[in-house]
Amino acid sequence: MDDLKAKWLGAIGEAADEASLEDLRVQAVGKKGEISLKMRELGKMTPEERQVAGPALNALKDEINTALAAKKTALADAALDERLKTEWLDVTLPGRDRRTGTVHPVSQVWEEVTAIFADMGFAVAEGPQIETDWYNFDALNIPSHHPARAEMDTFYMHRAEGDDRPPHVLRTHTSPVQIRSMEAQGAPIRTISPGRVYRADYDQTHTPMFHQVEGLAIDRDISMANLKWVLEEFFSAYFGTSVKTRFRASHFPFTEPSAEVDIQCSWEGGTVKVGEGDDWLEVLGSGMVHPKVLSAAGVDPAEWQGFAFGMGIDRIAMLKYGIPDLRAFFDSDLRWLRHYGFPALQVPTIRGGV
Ligand code: PHE
Repeated sequence: MDDLKAKWLGAIGEAADEASLEDLRVQAVGKKGEISLKMRELGKMTPEERQVAGPALNALKDEINTALAAKKTALADAALDERLKTEWLDVTLPGRDRRTGTVHPVSQVWEEVTAIFADMGFAVAEGPQIETDWYNFDALNIPSHHPARAEMDTFYMHRAEGDDRPPHVLRTHTSPVQIRSMEAQGAPIRTISPGRVYRADYDQTHTPMFHQVEGLAIDRDISMANLKWVLEEFFSAYFGTSVKTRFRASHFPFTEPSAEVDIQCSWEGGTVKVGEGDDWLEVLGSGMVHPKVLSAAGVDPAEWQGFAFGMGIDRIAMLKYGIPDLRAFFDSDLRWLRHYGFPALQVPTIRGGV
């Protein structure tokens, strides 16, 4: 009995890992293990011998099981210690630098424009980018034979044969939102409508998709004078310096009279500065909303009148932030975006106190 005990407890003490420990368990106290076989031999003994050997074998079995359990815990602890030695983390290391994205100049200027007009009491109204030709043209006093339709380089939506819905276009300007806003709200009304517009055109200052902001103010006695004040307030707040405007007589089917508006600027060494000098730069089209347009939108022209304007968002972004090529706006070049983009939480840079 003492030999057995010394043999198994010694072997358990020396076991190097959990697998060899399990082998030892099977060999010693498993079903066909040495101790189990010895227990089977008890039946062949005399009752006297059995009385001594039985309890001794049981005690030995218990002792071996206890030793196995203790060794198993010890091995598991040692394995864990070993792992902890290799798997460690230096929590004092500086964090990895992760680039955050930037706000696109168009989004930034969109916010700036909205904030300035909001201060003057204009609400934002948006319309769909896919329009019926009625909203984009007819309601704006551009009948189908009108040359303005051809001039606009319109993208027409494909229509399957037998599809007799009215023709749809990618809107060529934000002016259809004038109609939609007046239909929905009637008069008086004061809205601006920023959004994407589309024309088949591509060079340094034209892209097939670009951005406009439409302005609309209809009441009983709104005049061109109000238009001029609103625009000068806007440009001065936007460029952060007082900006003179010049109104040039022009023609749009949906306004009468109509004016193209230039802002004061200087050209020096190929760069343009707004708000100084004696040069002029065209930035928008405007005028008094045509009576036919009011009627088309369900507003009585005998009672109401007002102004509208349409301005290029990308264009005034280029002017304020000195960006030379419009096409780069939409190239998604990360270097460009990092250079001209804005930090996410930057408050719009506009002059307060409008
Ligand atoms: N819709 C015109 C354009 O895209 C601009 C405009 C808007 C002119 C409102 C007059 C009034 O060129």
